[in-house]
Amino acid sequence: MLIKRWFKTMVMGVLGLLALDFAIALALTDEEMSKAKKIYFDRCAGCHGTLRKGATGPEITDTKLKAKNYNTDIIKAFISNGTGGGMPGFVKTGLMTADEADLMARFVQVPPPIPPERSLADMEETWKLVTPVDKRPTKPMHKRNIENFFGVVLRDAGKAAIIDGDTKELVSTVDIGFATHILRVSATGRYFYSIGRDGRAVLIDLWMEKPAKVAEVQACTEARSIDVSKYNGPKGNFLDKYAVIGCYWPPQFIILDGKTLKPLKVVSSRSFTYDTNEFVNEARVAAMIASHKDPEIILNVKEAGYIWFVDYSDLKNLKITQVETERFLHDGGWDATKRYVMMAANMRNKMVIVDSQTKKQVAQIETGIKPHPGRGGNWTDPKLSRPIPKAPMCGQTIH
Ligand code: HEC
Repeated sequence: MLIKRWFKTMVMGVLGLLALDFAIALALTDEEMSKAKKIYFDRCAGCHGTLRKGATGPEITDTKLKAKNYNTDIIKAFISNGTGGGMPGFVKTGLMTADEADLMARFVQVPPPIPPERSLADMEETWKLVTPVDKRPTKPMHKRNIENFFGVVLRDAGKAAIIDGDTKELVSTVDIGFATHILRVSATGRYFYSIGRDGRAVLIDLWMEKPAKVAEVQACTEARSIDVSKYNGPKGNFLDKYAVIGCYWPPQFIILDGKTLKPLKVVSSRSFTYDTNEFVNEARVAAMIASHKDPEIILNVKEAGYIWFVDYSDLKNLKITQVETERFLHDGGWDATKRYVMMAANMRNKMVIVDSQTKKQVAQIETGIKPHPGRGGNWTDPKLSRPIPKAPMCGQTIH
């Protein structure tokens, strides 16, 4: 009996030591943790999700990887070399050192740190109105043609270059932050809006003699999209009235004053999948486009597979039409008639087509592997004499 108990204690002890070894091997120092969090945000979250629940890339939570019997070496091999199935090889391409790949392999085996929520008050704290509306020019202060201005994101410099397309001159460079994802032009053409992957939005006034930042706010901790209200008609004049930001984290969108970026209203996009009706905490807003024919912003809720028509004409009684389409929605844009919105459901190899007039899905098109259309491109085919939209495939090589 005594021997049996002794043996049991020994076994437990050895197992305990092994478990301890495992924990020590994975344990990250505070410094490693903050470095890994930053790399994860920059390099992984876009595809695998902030909570690692998966989107374009599969779920890579600690529990999932454990269930697959993955260890640090296996995961390191994925991160270093990538796969033909869409996982980039970060060491192979020189984007990461072998040590960083090792750190990331350990990081994904510990539970994901959950980033904080963000309320309207949190956003207001970061809101800077550099130049109030009444201190801005009342007419363009230069003779340039703003219709032909180009905004170019100088990503690593953290700036936007404003270029005059007529004269090819550099008109101004404006600080917009290091993680800028896109620039959008306002409905009137007067402003550029930038949105960073860190959720920072900047408003640039193109009427100034030297276009400059007039307002900024950090709306979320991770974002991809911004657009501005573009409707002017019987229901009111909303040109440049509201800006809307679509967040990856927290999963929500924010309606802001279009001329000052003052945050006005937050709406959660956490929801249920359109087909199986399962709850998705990380149901993120990916692409967004403003309607010209109705006072609406059309946005997609990526993981849930919905396209939402958000009617901004009455913020107190906000109307949202939720159109069932397909998962996981990524980017997209208008067809040539500006009536149909085409968005990629990249994991199902489809493009979904929604009619902005009836607010219903009208078609789904089978595509090649992982469509990634950007805003979409259209041209008129000389033989068919009709507009043809384009969408490149991320998962296929052109031969
Ligand atoms: C461009 C999108 C993309 C990015 C960015 C990306 N991944 Fe992946 N990842 C994928 C895809 C797609 C797969 C599935 C590959 C396959 O099956 O061939 C994958 C697979 C993996 C796997 C294996 C999962 C499994 O179940 O087999 C791990 C681990 C992983 N990624 C970790 C990471 C880490 C860590 C980063 C950041 C350093 C990262 N990924 C960045 C798309 C991405």
